[in-house]
Amino acid sequence: MLLHIPGLFAKEEVQRIREALEQADWADGKITAGFQSAKAKHNLQLPEGHPLAKEIGAAMLERLWKNPLFMSAALPHKVFPPLLNCYTAGGSFDFHIDNAVRQPKGSIERVRTDLSATLFFSEPEDYDGGELEIQDTYGTQRVKLPAGDMVLYPGTSLHKVNAVTRGTRFASFFWTQSLVREDSQRALLFEMDAAIQQLTRDVPDHPSLIRLTGTYHNLLRRWVEV
Ligand code: NI
Repeated sequence: MLLHIPGLFAKEEVQRIREALEQADWADGKITAGFQSAKAKHNLQLPEGHPLAKEIGAAMLERLWKNPLFMSAALPHKVFPPLLNCYTAGGSFDFHIDNAVRQPKGSIERVRTDLSATLFFSEPEDYDGGELEIQDTYGTQRVKLPAGDMVLYPGTSLHKVNAVTRGTRFASFFWTQSLVREDSQRALLFEMDAAIQQLTRDVPDHPSLIRLTGTYHNLLRRWVEV
């Protein structure tokens, strides 16, 4: 399942973040790539633990933890702290699948990368190319979102970032280990949760809501891993 989560940051916030990113000291993106993906990766990245990456990452996670769409779709257990990247002057990242397990620097905890996310900090009209292409069961999806918006997609999918041929594309990306490992199970729970939320608004006193909500939790209990 591919999900667009709009408006995590307002335009003024995005503007401030972009200004800070324009001033930052960028490093070669190969620093966090696996052996194989290093060959495909041509971009810039803020080193893990960079103060600006930490600050923006913390703000993102705070927003996400209050975002009902993210919580319902990702059912997050733990996340790998967000990293920041920059594609410019022909920078690209060819097709690859992200490493299955990540260990944040200085942490003993490892994160299984069930879900990948990209949050855009540059407006689509400020650069050419730079689409995130995701191979999905329904074909290839090309994602290029307004600044402040995020896309969430299964960590199992093959994906790439097309070359940026004009301007600069700033974005943040991170991985989530979900309470529910399987994408198909997560998708079912997400649909059911959305339907329950809608019924709660439209017919709040219907007795079946209690049974439906109970069934949601009983399915979650069956599939959850903590
Ligand atoms: Ni990737």
